Amino acid sequence: MLLLDGKALAATIKEEIAEDVRRFTGEGNRPPHLVAVLVGDDGASQTYVGNKVRSCEQVGFRSTLHRLPAETSQEELMALVAELNADAEVDGYIVQLPLPGHLDEEAVTLAIAPAKDVDGFHPTNIGRMTLGLPAYLPATPNGIMRILDRYGVETSGKHCVVIGRSNIVGTPMSILLSRNANPGNCTVTLTHSRTKNLAELCRQADIIVAALGRPAFLTADMVREGAVVIDVGITRVEDASRKRGYRLQGDVDFESVAAKCAAITPVPGGVGPMTVVSLLLNTFDAARRQQATARV
Ligand code: GUN
Repeated sequence: MLLLDGKALAATIKEEIAEDVRRFTGEGNRPPHLVAVLVGDDGASQTYVGNKVRSCEQVGFRSTLHRLPAETSQEELMALVAELNADAEVDGYIVQLPLPGHLDEEAVTLAIAPAKDVDGFHPTNIGRMTLGLPAYLPATPNGIMRILDRYGVETSGKHCVVIGRSNIVGTPMSILLSRNANPGNCTVTLTHSRTKNLAELCRQADIIVAALGRPAFLTADMVREGAVVIDVGITRVEDASRKRGYRLQGDVDFESVAAKCAAITPVPGGVGPMTVVSLLLNTFDAARRQQATARV
């Protein structure tokens, strides 16, 4: 069994990015600048945003974190979005989701300028991705594509079962895997809570992407001998033996599935670190575009 080590791969790619940043700034450009907006005090969101900001520092990007209280109004958040859209010093920005319940996530996503939407959540970027045009690709599916690419996992002609149809992971994953590219050219089955015979479909898969958010859902009996398994889940489950009182559990029952499959991503240290790398790459693209435009 091959461990698809996203943490090690992310470290390698970050070194490559850092080198590119040195060249970029050496040519007289300012460093790429990512802004993150965090509303409220959700524990997992704080961890994710913290990782994003720290990763910026590691590669020589500038980063700014806007921490807003949970009671922030829609108007206040929309005003910040408008400000960030207009700020030529900001190459790309993200508004961390989920937002507190009283805020309208759709309205916020639609208000982000597509050229600065480094999460790739705006309909313009999703539409462009779907058409195979240059676009900011959503971080998690793009991180998975990079894992498949760098580890040389053959995708062409393979049957891939994606479990979960979220806008952020499952649906864009199915599009990227099925398009005519390398990696890509998979035959994709996109499954969800209404899918019948899920276990049977999974057993037919060469590649399984588990992205439904149910801890240890995918068990060995659902996996064909020699399959490649990608685990997107990252749920905090109570664990009294840990100092912080919880551990991170993927959607895959790692121990049993690892014994059977050809390759697998661990949790933590698999898809998560590559998600951050994708965000850095999108931000670098945004900076290249923004600064090339500023010069003409
Ligand atoms: N919440 C979970 N994943 C993401 C992500 O990739 N971007 C943002 N903005 N929020 C998220």
